[in-house]
Amino acid sequence: MSTTPQTTDAAASAVLEAVLNRRSPAAFSREQPARAQIEQLIQAAVRAPNHYRNEPWRFFVLTGPAREQLGEVFAESLKAKLASPDAPENAAALERERAKPLRAPVVIAVAAVKTDNPKALPDEDLSATAAAVENMLTVAPALGLGAFWRTGDAASDERVKAFFGLRPEDRIVAFVYVGYPEVMGKLTPRRDVSETTTWLGWNE
Ligand SMILES: Cc1cc2nc3c(=O)[nH]c(=O)nc-3n(C[C@H](O)[C@H](O)[C@H](O)COP(=O)(O)O)c2cc1C
Repeated sequence: MSTTPQTTDAAASAVLEAVLNRRSPAAFSREQPARAQIEQLIQAAVRAPNHYRNEPWRFFVLTGPAREQLGEVFAESLKAKLASPDAPENAAALERERAKPLRAPVVIAVAAVKTDNPKALPDEDLSATAAAVENMLTVAPALGLGAFWRTGDAASDERVKAFFGLRPEDRIVAFVYVGYPEVMGKLTPRRDVSETTTWLGWNE
């Protein structure tokens, strides 16, 4: 009997469908998901593979006024990069930055922290945390939700890290915007995999 995993199992097929149809919502409704739904997203996230079982991921789940506080920190971090932060022409950009976390009812900041494991490789822990984020994106529709992965300059800003109690050596991998999709995004195109795949040792 073949030991090759089969994809005929209904659950496995559903996973394949979920991955092939994954897309980012274009807009979220204001309705706040239940905490239990967010917990399920995080349960899925932590099933990601990770070397030495380091579990380098940390999740910060913001809703309501916590998103406004994050927006203030985003604006402060942009302000610090501007040559003349109080100039009127910068006001709109700062306001846009302040409003960013309000684009979804829940924002989950996901960080890869430096663990105590002396064998830990930062790149591996970063990759593991990125895989955890992708799990959240993949399972969101099964919970009736949508999820959008964002980072931007704010993710590497020390003020933003400090807001979450993170250290300079920790990395923010994602701000996952979560909610009920009001407008679903279209499936974005990808190059044909033949352009990005090299087959080695194959006879067919
Ligand atoms: C690490 C990472 C960071 C990203 N940061 C942003 C971002 O800051 N802003 C943004 O509009 N899209 C960002 N994206 C891209 C979107 O999440 C999304 O994948 C893209 O808009 C394509 O849409 P799709 O997910 O529906 O294919 C990021 C993606 C990744 C993997």
